[in-house]
Amino acid sequence: MNPLRAVKGMNDVLPDEMAQFRRVEEAFARTMRLYAFREVRTPIVEPTNLFVRAMGETTDVVGKEMYSFLHHEDPLTLRPEGTAGAVRAYIEHGVGQKEPVTRWWYLGPMFRAERPARGRYRQFWQAGAEIFGEAGPACDAEMIDLLVRYLVELGVPDARVYVNSLGGAEARPRYRSALVDHLRPRAAALSPDSQRRLDANPLRILDSKDPRDIEAVKDAPVMLDLLPPDDAAHFAELRQHLDGLGTPYEVAPRLVRGFDYYTRTLFEIKGATAKLGAGDTLVGGGRYDGLVEELGGGKVPAIGFSAGVERLIIASEAPQATQAVDAFIAPLGDAALGYALVLARDLRAAGAVTELDGRKASLKAQLRRASTIGARFALIAGDTEVSGNTVQVKDLAAHSQENVPRSDVVARLLARLEGGP
Ligand code: HAM
Repeated sequence: MNPLRAVKGMNDVLPDEMAQFRRVEEAFARTMRLYAFREVRTPIVEPTNLFVRAMGETTDVVGKEMYSFLHHEDPLTLRPEGTAGAVRAYIEHGVGQKEPVTRWWYLGPMFRAERPARGRYRQFWQAGAEIFGEAGPACDAEMIDLLVRYLVELGVPDARVYVNSLGGAEARPRYRSALVDHLRPRAAALSPDSQRRLDANPLRILDSKDPRDIEAVKDAPVMLDLLPPDDAAHFAELRQHLDGLGTPYEVAPRLVRGFDYYTRTLFEIKGATAKLGAGDTLVGGGRYDGLVEELGGGKVPAIGFSAGVERLIIASEAPQATQAVDAFIAPLGDAALGYALVLARDLRAAGAVTELDGRKASLKAQLRRASTIGARFALIAGDTEVSGNTVQVKDLAAHSQENVPRSDVVARLLARLEGGP
């Protein structure tokens, strides 16, 4: 029989690596709290139609990358991103009627059937946030600045911020036709993928890495040049705020993003390509002022972002943090096991991280284990200690050992852990 394996592109996170996840996730939660965001959790499975309507039928993710299935008659999908579910929850719970501004953050697994590579997986984790109810560019700038600060805190070197504007609901179709007018005469020279996109989703051609497409869009009209005055003012004000905050950024006139819901501000943050390869986009986000209404809610402007947790870990690789074990209890013989159980419970109640060896192994094997896990103390109890109501306390850092009355063990250990004699 073949050994069972995880699904391709879906990874186990073993404890050594888990420390890195915790570091990135806890720093994110801290940042979010500082900026007055509140955490939400939405289901991993949503109606397929939610993503089709939110992200657009012709996008790569909806067209090719969703894990969709029928449960009885219901078409369901493992969420490929978090925004659609957050918007659904926002509408479903009438949140907009209860508060004028909503700041939410989330963290969880997302699923896309992409070709796996370094930094690109089929199950991956996103840390994201959405602001509902603010239309102005100050909140766009605040979000970008927050991200830059977060990346500095994580120790991500060389993060570069790119911003662009797509224009609002009217500007987009206008730009789209200007682009198609430019590309149509060059259609034969486009890559086969982009020939298909020309009718379905021409903006994506701007994003293509294929040299034929890059050549064809070289002189294409630029979105920023065609923005109506309102949208241009929004973008100009965003830039002023970023300048005022001292947040470094670059304007990227060809930046487009994969989903149809975006309007106006778009941004991405990239890390060092040398480390990240093709998956060098750490964060993607933007405004989606029409989505809440499109999905059946009110006219509520919104903006958000998501960061790939695995990519943040690769980009910021910090030294491996080890999890300290204060006490390792080594019972010798059956009578000592019950004695050790109570001792372990007392130590944990006092806050000492304690591992109890229940293997009934030799003293040598147990001490080897204590040393492997880097325990500070090994507490040894055999028949003599149980009958004398004592414990042998071996300080593995100081290489000393003493016989301590059972009633003093917890206090003595805590004192020594705090640096006492
Ligand atoms: P996205 O650009 O599709 O945007 O994804 C955001 C981030 O998720 C990417 O920059 C990347 O770090 C990570 N990511 C995406 N796909 C993968 C993958 N296959 N493997 C590993 N990491 C990946 C969104 O998802 C939008 N919901 C962002 C947003 C929120 N816009 C407004 N609000």
